[in-house]
Amino acid sequence: MSEHGKTPVTVLGLGAMGTALTEALLAAGHPVTVWNRTAGRAEAVAAKGASVASTVSEALAANQIVIACLLDYDSVHEVLDPVASELKGRQLINLTNGTPGQAREMSAWAEELGAEYLDGGIMAVPPMIGTPAAFIFYSGSGTVYGRARTALDTFGGANYLGADPGLAPLHDIALLSGMYGFFIGVIQAYALVGSAGVKAREFAPLLRAWIDAMGGFLERSAEQIDDGDYVTDVVSNIGMQAAAYPNLAQAAKDQGISAELLTPLQSLMDRRVADGRGAEDLIGVIELLKK
Ligand SMILES: NC(=O)c1ccc[n+]([C@@H]2O[C@H](COP(=O)([O-])OP(=O)(O)OC[C@H]3O[C@@H](n4cnc5c(N)ncnc54)[C@H](OP(=O)(O)O)[C@@H]3O)[C@@H](O)[C@H]2O)c1
Repeated sequence: MSEHGKTPVTVLGLGAMGTALTEALLAAGHPVTVWNRTAGRAEAVAAKGASVASTVSEALAANQIVIACLLDYDSVHEVLDPVASELKGRQLINLTNGTPGQAREMSAWAEELGAEYLDGGIMAVPPMIGTPAAFIFYSGSGTVYGRARTALDTFGGANYLGADPGLAPLHDIALLSGMYGFFIGVIQAYALVGSAGVKAREFAPLLRAWIDAMGGFLERSAEQIDDGDYVTDVVSNIGMQAAAYPNLAQAAKDQGISAELLTPLQSLMDRRVADGRGAEDLIGVIELLKK
């Protein structure tokens, strides 16, 4: 940290997210050096006070704390591999989306080169960065997290999950899994009513109300999973649900709509019922996901 309580940081990557991160750092007065493969993308943040490095080496030399926010882990390696020896003594914070395995591999790679490593999972879209609505998971080096904390806090809420670098992407991808499951249902619902000429805008309030009414599934199933109890106080047993669920696919087909987003859950429900668990709750299918 500099004498004025500001943390000089290097940011590699000025896509939509890297630019938002850089702007948040600059707005809070942290000195930022940036590098991007396509140099022209640095102009906007340069106008706001960022120093622009013309090479990755120059960007690494500028600061101890280096934040990477690139497309994927392959692009991070593509950028850093040619200058790997220059990572020695650096604190690498990788906010690029990836898997727990990729994060652990990159952490081991960085440590071998004499760098410390912190991984991060950004739970925000770029306009949310710098607002209280954004939050970011971190895992890996607690030392790096502590040293970079004032800079990281400019992005949004920070949540450090522990020393295993895979924990941040694990939580990130779990939340994305929940999000995409939700998106799947919304897409299917609009497609189905749309096949009968119902406008999506007209249907949206009904869908919102129904999703909100079903929101309790989230906490109720968490209790059932943690207690290992899928049988107590069941009001909508999986036998009943497995009998009704084929109607979703059939109705879609009858309306000329693909049911491909719906079918995977059917086979899990059917297997659970075939296992003699028809009186249990739906969430019991989670047992079939454990390989
Ligand atoms: N945008 C979001 O809503 C969001 C939300 C959460 C997390 N994230 C994650 O944040 C990361 C960045 O996303 P973004 O929205 O900034 O993406 P983006 O706008 O598509 O920008 C991609 C960035 O990666 C760089 N890049 C791609 N391939 C490269 C390579 N081979 N070598 C060097 N640089 C390369 C691009 O450089 P050029 O400018 O030269 O192409 C650009 O700086 C991703 O991992 C994404 O999953 C994004």
